[in-house]
Amino acid sequence: MNKPLSVIAGAQGDKPMGNADGERLDRRIPVYGESQRPPRGDYSRAGSDYTCAQNYSAYTAEHHDLYRRLYARQSALLPGLACSDFMAALPHLGASDAIPRFEDINERLFKATGWQLVGVPGLIPEVPFFTLLAARKFPVTDWIRTPAEFDYIVEPDIFHDLFGHVPLLFDARYANHIQAYGQGALKAHALEHDSVEPIPHAVEMLSRLYWYTIEFGLMRDAGAGGQVRAYGAGLLSSPGELAHCVQSGDVRHIPLHSRDDLLRCMASSYKIDSYQQQYFVIDSFDRLQSLTQPDFRPIYQALNQRRDQAA
Ligand code: PHE
Ligand code: FE
Repeated sequence: MNKPLSVIAGAQGDKPMGNADGERLDRRIPVYGESQRPPRGDYSRAGSDYTCAQNYSAYTAEHHDLYRRLYARQSALLPGLACSDFMAALPHLGASDAIPRFEDINERLFKATGWQLVGVPGLIPEVPFFTLLAARKFPVTDWIRTPAEFDYIVEPDIFHDLFGHVPLLFDARYANHIQAYGQGALKAHALEHDSVEPIPHAVEMLSRLYWYTIEFGLMRDAGAGGQVRAYGAGLLSSPGELAHCVQSGDVRHIPLHSRDDLLRCMASSYKIDSYQQQYFVIDSFDRLQSLTQPDFRPIYQALNQRRDQAA
């Protein structure tokens, strides 16, 4: 890469990623240009699609031990807080006493849902990211945080990517949704850059949906007696926010059922450096699928109209 890669998370863009307990909240929306923070990974290892081989021999005994401790802590926190589909899917990740090999997970994952993990050196630009998702390839950062970051890390590492995102990729409905999101995001990017009739902010609006669902989504879980449970990866891999999002009396749980709810979600900016104060609650992955299936072009246009009226 010939230009510095700086990482910008979220609409606020100028703040570091991470929340109060330090779990990094990735949106993988890096941009080129002014550099707040140099990327941590070695991008010279990556090909033109930004993927790289998992550098397995680079892991030390300490790295494996750190993964084991992160996994043990987080899996103990899940009961009563993580959605039942995630609980059922977690064993697919395999042994938890060392960093897994992507190729071992891929043997099972490809058979289950046709998805594959691909290594990446860290955050990657949005178009390559969406392109991978649309091809059922999930980018996983191949390095692990330092021991000092056990409770706090600013950007996604292998633990967040694997533990937070990959188990549900074994679930066909979630897996299909992530691919549809990738395709929808490429479309949003094309609409935004259309030379005749560009639709401003389309990618940003869709990124908010990603944030409030794939990263921080809650569900009223039929498999848990209709209790509210987490399915968002930023919650499932976070030691503190997982209980906060479900149990705190100070947060709002907003239903995400109707087209109006969807508009509200896509109009909501979010905090990237603290726990969320509002979470959007679906009632099933089928709901998420049916809500996001329609053409979003009129949704982007309606939101821009509101934006103009408010200005
Ligand atoms: N259906 C949306 C569109 O046409 C794309 C999309 C799919 C968005 C899945 C989110 C999730 O733009
Ligand atoms: Fe993530």
